[in-house]
Amino acid sequence: MDVERLRQDFPIYSSPEKDIIYLDNACQSMRPRQVIEALNEYYLEYPACGGRSVHRLATKVSVKVEEAREKVARFIGCSDPSCIVFTKNCTEGLNIVAKGYRFPKGAAVLTTDMEHNSNHVPWLQLHAEGKIKHRMVRTPPSGLFSLEAYKAALTADVAMVSMVHTNNVTGTTLPAKAVIELAHDKKAVVMLDGAQSVPHRPIDVEDLDVDMLTFSVHKMLGPSGVGVLYAKKEMMDRIEPLLGGGGSVGYTDYERVEFLPPPEKFEAGLMNYSGVIGTGAAVDYLSAIGMQNVADHEKRLNRIVTRGVEDIDALNIVGPKDPSVRDGLFSFNIRGMTSHDVAMIIDEIAKVQIRSGMHCMHPFFRSRGIDGCARASFYVYNTEGECRKFLDALRHIADTFSS
Ligand SMILES: Cc1ncc(COP(=O)(O)O)c(C=O)c1O
Repeated sequence: MDVERLRQDFPIYSSPEKDIIYLDNACQSMRPRQVIEALNEYYLEYPACGGRSVHRLATKVSVKVEEAREKVARFIGCSDPSCIVFTKNCTEGLNIVAKGYRFPKGAAVLTTDMEHNSNHVPWLQLHAEGKIKHRMVRTPPSGLFSLEAYKAALTADVAMVSMVHTNNVTGTTLPAKAVIELAHDKKAVVMLDGAQSVPHRPIDVEDLDVDMLTFSVHKMLGPSGVGVLYAKKEMMDRIEPLLGGGGSVGYTDYERVEFLPPPEKFEAGLMNYSGVIGTGAAVDYLSAIGMQNVADHEKRLNRIVTRGVEDIDALNIVGPKDPSVRDGLFSFNIRGMTSHDVAMIIDEIAKVQIRSGMHCMHPFFRSRGIDGCARASFYVYNTEGECRKFLDALRHIADTFSS
């Protein structure tokens, strides 16, 4: 992977901010020129409405949207593009399923104690409304998913397992195939929150046999405000749409509505057409690099950084110490400092951009009695040189400010 050549595609690196070291990729990634051009192409050449009008501009939009759907399907190993629903983000995909799935009476939903709020709050809401029973699999002190604890929690009333595939703080990944097989043995369906997995490694939904998968495109070189919900055909039939309205229905009269088949059933209202078309370009870009190359690159950078902090006594890694189980995520605290102070100082002294705070995982931090952490997350355009500068800045901060 030629990172230096690849960086030339990212306008940020030839802008007035070209010196930044952007390590906040788990939140949102930078975008290559190819994606920005696809977004602009829509506004410059065919800024019309898809799926409704029949004139030539509208037809072009409809064709481009369906092309993007096919590209996304291929990208995640799905052979049927109609299983791909465009949403506005991963949160919306998770909510479509949580709020729309027809749960049998008394059904339980199993999550983990390591969920992002987007896969936690909807279940708390449904539990409070008495629509489901929400239960969690506890994570042992190692920080790694326990299949034994999962098996014990997978009781006969569990109708759905909804779990984070790769955690957004610790970077750990659950053994998805085993989780799915065990759930299916018990007649439970599985939804994976792929916000931190799909952008970073090859994913094949048919090989995994996962029932539903959600992710956000702004974390994978694509535009803001686009997400994807993948669901098997038979799952789609069990989910009521979260939004009803134009574009999602085949027919209505004064009393009744007939929804269109999926994916349209879940895509009510005018869509973010440029965003969807830009998503196709992002997927093309990542596919050309190769997702295994993306994964290997991130892991290599994480190894360099993890080794580089071994002798910084005041720095504590949040999550397992071993970088090989943390993908491209490096979360940490520096003794005596708040994570926000670390993030502001490192930006000030070295132009390194990292995330700080609780990362939408309040229960994780509260249960451990800590008020957050700093997080660096790597992506395709980050270099070894940037990691060295990051390490120098960390060392300087720890030497100067830690207690
Ligand atoms: C693991 C995980 N799940 C869900 C989300 C929610 O993504 P979005 O805010 O794009 O909907 C995030 C965002 O950081 C995440 O990291």
